[in-house]
Amino acid sequence: MKTDCAIWANGELRYAGVNDHEIDLFEGQYAVPHGVSYNSYVILDEKTAVMDTVDGRFADAWLRNVEKALDGRKPDYLIVQHMEPDHSGSIMAFAEKYPGAVIVSTQKAFGMMNQFFGTDFADRRMVAAEGGKLPLGRHTLAFYTAPMVHWPEVMVTYEETEKTLFSADAFGKFGALDWAEDWTDEARRYYIGIVGKYGAPVQTLLKKAAGLDIQKICPLHGPVLKENLEKYLKLYSIWSSYQPEEKGAVIAYASFYGHTRAAAELLAEELQKAGFGPVVLRDVYRDDWAATVADAFRYSHLVVASPTYNGDMAPKMEAFLKALSARGYQNRVAAVMDNGTWAPMAGKAMKAALESCRNVTVVEPVVSIRSAMNDENKAQICALAAALIQA
Ligand SMILES: Cc1cc2nc3c(=O)[nH]c(=O)nc-3n(C[C@H](O)[C@H](O)[C@H](O)COP(=O)(O)O)c2cc1C
Ligand SMILES: [Fe+2]
Ligand SMILES: [Fe+2]
Repeated sequence: MKTDCAIWANGELRYAGVNDHEIDLFEGQYAVPHGVSYNSYVILDEKTAVMDTVDGRFADAWLRNVEKALDGRKPDYLIVQHMEPDHSGSIMAFAEKYPGAVIVSTQKAFGMMNQFFGTDFADRRMVAAEGGKLPLGRHTLAFYTAPMVHWPEVMVTYEETEKTLFSADAFGKFGALDWAEDWTDEARRYYIGIVGKYGAPVQTLLKKAAGLDIQKICPLHGPVLKENLEKYLKLYSIWSSYQPEEKGAVIAYASFYGHTRAAAELLAEELQKAGFGPVVLRDVYRDDWAATVADAFRYSHLVVASPTYNGDMAPKMEAFLKALSARGYQNRVAAVMDNGTWAPMAGKAMKAALESCRNVTVVEPVVSIRSAMNDENKAQICALAAALIQA
């Protein structure tokens, strides 16, 4: 998307965001091989409004985009929907360049501005309350709080004339806008990774959204959504209610010397032979952890396999299971395979971790390997495949 691209047919909404291809890890955690965009929009009406800023590393480029989009005019308002630094990092640069602009945000966000910047703009601010409206001329912005989607101060903004929802982090995805790819996989990895824990607040936001006639969604990351909005709303409904999207299995394994991996591969083969559905094999050490977490939320079944490591499961397996439970993982069928050369303990630990999640059923048998698979283990793995198919 070009920075001068008009989003509304009348040309009164313009994109002013930036693509970040320099970042190594988003939020210091998530691999983004195709970058990420920090979206910002400019509304030109009798009054002008800028919707959010961008990461501070891109302040100059963004201010140039804003200036170009404003077409010689000055901004009347800066709307701040979210205070996470990927969106708030250029607020101070904006405030200095445009001293006449009023900052519009929630009470909580102004508190955070004080913490981040040492000012809450007391002399030039407007506090947005739930349902509060800001007329710009032909367009009117209505503000709706969306606490914990993805921080407590978040609000979203609905423009009534063009029926456009500015959705803050919701409906965003990884991947810069100059990189073309399907929305779903990178939006899932983004949502489950970043917002996954907050299913209930997302459901509350979706209920508010259901009362609005939405024709376009302008998120803070990823493309503007203009068509088939039901598809995106449905996926958000599934993800935020912790239901699987489809029948299928993730087999997540750790293996120091390949023996546990061989067991994971055999189980994958057995499931595939039986026509179980998609089976995804993931190494918790080598594969992107956020993709494995997202796949665990995508599919109905999860198998974890780990060697025993100093009396416990492998550390990255523990981190993976913690990443699931921290995101409210629930409503799934699970199974466990372990390995141990003198005192196998990983199976017990993984089973306990899974059973601490709500409505996760661990099916039998728990396959326990002593160093390398023997014939009995192979038979157990066939029995486990059959049990998973039944469950
Ligand atoms: C550093 C390290 C620590 C281990 N700790 C244990 C242990 O505490 N108890 C045990 O039964 N096996 C232990 N093992 C053996 C593994 O659980 C496993 O049997 C072996 O690595 C073979 O499986 P793999 O090829 O999938 O790695 C350990 C192995 C390694 C490399
Ligand atoms: Fe955020
Ligand atoms: Fe964000």
